[in-house]
Amino acid sequence: MEFAVESGDITLVDTDAIVVNLFEGVASPASSDKPAKPASPDGAAGAVDKALGGAISDLIAAGETKGTSGEMTLIHTLGKMATRRVLVVGLGKADEFDLDTVRSVSAQTARYLTGKGVESVATVSPSVSMGELDARSSAQAIAEGTLLGVYQFDRHKTPEEPAPELASVTIVESDDSKLDQLRAGAQEGQAIAEAVSLCRDLVNEPANHLTPADLADIALGVSRDAGLELKVLDETQMEKLGMGALLGVAAGSRVPPRLIVMNYSGDPENPNNNLGLIGKGITFDSGGISLKPAGGMGAMKGDMAGAASVIAAIKAIAALKPKLNVTAIAVASENMPGGGAQRPGDVVTSMSGKTIEVDNTDAEGRLVLADAIAYALTLGLTRLVDVATLTGAMEVALGKVTTGAFGNDRDLLDAVLAAANGVGERTWEMPTFDEYREQYKSDVADLKNIGGRPAGSITGAMFIGEFVGDAAWVHLDIAGTSTTSKTKGHQTKGATGVPVRTLVALAQGLAGD
Ligand code: BES
Ligand code: ZN
Ligand code: MN
Repeated sequence: MEFAVESGDITLVDTDAIVVNLFEGVASPASSDKPAKPASPDGAAGAVDKALGGAISDLIAAGETKGTSGEMTLIHTLGKMATRRVLVVGLGKADEFDLDTVRSVSAQTARYLTGKGVESVATVSPSVSMGELDARSSAQAIAEGTLLGVYQFDRHKTPEEPAPELASVTIVESDDSKLDQLRAGAQEGQAIAEAVSLCRDLVNEPANHLTPADLADIALGVSRDAGLELKVLDETQMEKLGMGALLGVAAGSRVPPRLIVMNYSGDPENPNNNLGLIGKGITFDSGGISLKPAGGMGAMKGDMAGAASVIAAIKAIAALKPKLNVTAIAVASENMPGGGAQRPGDVVTSMSGKTIEVDNTDAEGRLVLADAIAYALTLGLTRLVDVATLTGAMEVALGKVTTGAFGNDRDLLDAVLAAANGVGERTWEMPTFDEYREQYKSDVADLKNIGGRPAGSITGAMFIGEFVGDAAWVHLDIAGTSTTSKTKGHQTKGATGVPVRTLVALAQGLAGD
């Protein structure tokens, strides 16, 4: 999709459709002596209303168009304007209007117009006409919402008739002083949406099409395009480094594991100005010998969402160039019950030297992350964020709405929560009280890999925390939020691409951008 920002008067643009916005509500509230007065459109909607001889005012007066969030009113201009159609899109209540509204409404608009076969569209940036949000953020949210809203994963479907696609979106602005900001925002939004789409593609991809080696190939392509350093460790190198926890998980599969390391040097003079992003990359989680039940097991093709998110995030980070060094580590393996598989009760020695009793082979995420984190520490990384579809218990606690955040460092936790909040990816802090440590003590090894049913997400997180040494660390459990069962706003059914936008905003925040 082509995204552009142009100077001009939207009412004069010759295109398939132009989009104008309307807030919900009435100009004056109803009272005992006078009835509510319907809102009249202002800004671009007002100008279009005039050009159409009051068509929009008429629709409002008739109660057909109310401006509720996501409401779509399509008007054919029948030669009154250069454009064939005007789409009036409701923004909801003015006092609830924010960037999330822009993202969500842009996504709904893009899907609606795609359904109508519209290929090129011109729109105003609501921020500018409504004087609410800054132009740059608004253009960014329009680009993100539009691109993510029409995302589809159809590469394994035999194509039917080639359906028309929304090919060009132009933000039209009459105030020339806003153009630079709008352009910068639109570009940033495109880079971020591209990364989120990559993450969604990887998570949606079935495990027979995405092995650990395939994921390494994708990382190679991203690194080449973005100018990142790349290192991929294979089994022999893992053995040399003593990654017994990771190798134990990989042992049950025919396909070998990979540790993928991508590096962006945004502040090479200051190696301490760093951020390590570590992603769980189980390309399929059958549970291993502690086999999962058959129902819904297919969803475990997405157990590499953490790895996908860190690869995607560093791709966007390389494009946006914050002044900070970022290393993405994706730890990729299958978890299968093959003849070589590890057994419940086995004891493995992790790279850190700590021994682990594998009480349940289905608690494999924390095992592979233990070794990935030990490796991150050897690179001198001092700030770590791991991202993992770690526990079903996380979805029980916070549902599919909210990511759980755990950590050992107030500043880094605050930075992650602020980043998440800023981009509208709901994230909530969970406790890591010492009392829970009892639950994963082992009789035969230093630790065991499960902590029982109570507080399953917390013990999983704290187990990972045992391997972070002196580093500042945050763990994001995205078991609930990495996928969604319905298309809503900028999210489409299947992979969500969470928490790519948070990770990118975190890097920008830490860099002081
Ligand atoms: N990958 C799963 C967690 C998961 C469940 C992610 C549902 C997404 C949706 C993880 O490896 C796992 O199996 N966790 C176990 C841990 C238990 C054995 C301590 C779980 O949640 O049951
Ligand atoms: Zn798993
Ligand atoms: Mn598992």
